[in-house]
Amino acid sequence: MVMEIISDITALRARLKSEQSIGFVPTMGNLHEGHLSLVTIAQQHARCTVVSLFVNRLQFSPHEDFDRYPRTLQNDFSLLEKAGIDMIFLPDEKIIYPVPQTFQLLLPTLADTLEGTFRPGFFRGVTTIVLKLFNIVQPHIAVFGKKDYQQLHLVRDMVEQLNLPITILAGETIRSENGLAFSSRNGYLTPAEHTEASHLYQSLNQIKHAIAAGERNLKLLEETAKQQLNQRNWRVDYLSVMQRNTLLPATPQDTELVILAAAWLGTTRLIDNLEVTLTSLPD
Ligand code: PAF
Repeated sequence: MVMEIISDITALRARLKSEQSIGFVPTMGNLHEGHLSLVTIAQQHARCTVVSLFVNRLQFSPHEDFDRYPRTLQNDFSLLEKAGIDMIFLPDEKIIYPVPQTFQLLLPTLADTLEGTFRPGFFRGVTTIVLKLFNIVQPHIAVFGKKDYQQLHLVRDMVEQLNLPITILAGETIRSENGLAFSSRNGYLTPAEHTEASHLYQSLNQIKHAIAAGERNLKLLEETAKQQLNQRNWRVDYLSVMQRNTLLPATPQDTELVILAAAWLGTTRLIDNLEVTLTSLPD
């Protein structure tokens, strides 16, 4: 099977019309092992796999890294060809946004918390492009990484509340040997920062183990971890223990948790998270 690269919406729809089972992985390119693990999930659940490569200006604030976001198309093509996908959707901006995108979604308050507090408008941009891509590709399943935990949560809610006939599947976070989660933004890190970056995951693990050992003062755990990172010259945007199902602040009685963090190392902003499941609560 030869991988096709299609930029045009009409051509893509015509090509996909006869497909009974379409698996979709939306990406902004600069693919790494994390993306490829999502591709594998799509391939396991659908006969035809489509990956989109589109750096979505709408989800970047004017001061953010849209212009310098890594674009590595040739490498992406060869990784996807090796992975054996069927089709790349590679639209340019004029195809996706031929007119200013004045219709956008009204999002739940969850979109203004955590990432949304520090990146206003980010999730409006994300859900708008994801909904557009869903309408263009019309997949049966779509795969998103747990690395972007809040994004996954909001996409799931959007699909459910807007009755989209798409099954959303989640891929686990893939990490390099030192624990750093794969991310396109890791490319901004210097070698020394790359080594230091493992401390974000270590902080999450430290909290996870403390909770598993019975510590229920979640605020204290959050504050301690933040202080430790700050002392190592990180600038923490948030580091919070949340209920997994709602992404609201966790209480000491909750057993299904996720610890979510975003922090700056030099000029690079990293995000990460770790799920914690307690089988029993201490007395
Ligand atoms: O997670 C991403 O790479 C992006 O937010 C997405 C889902 C491709 C939308 O642009």
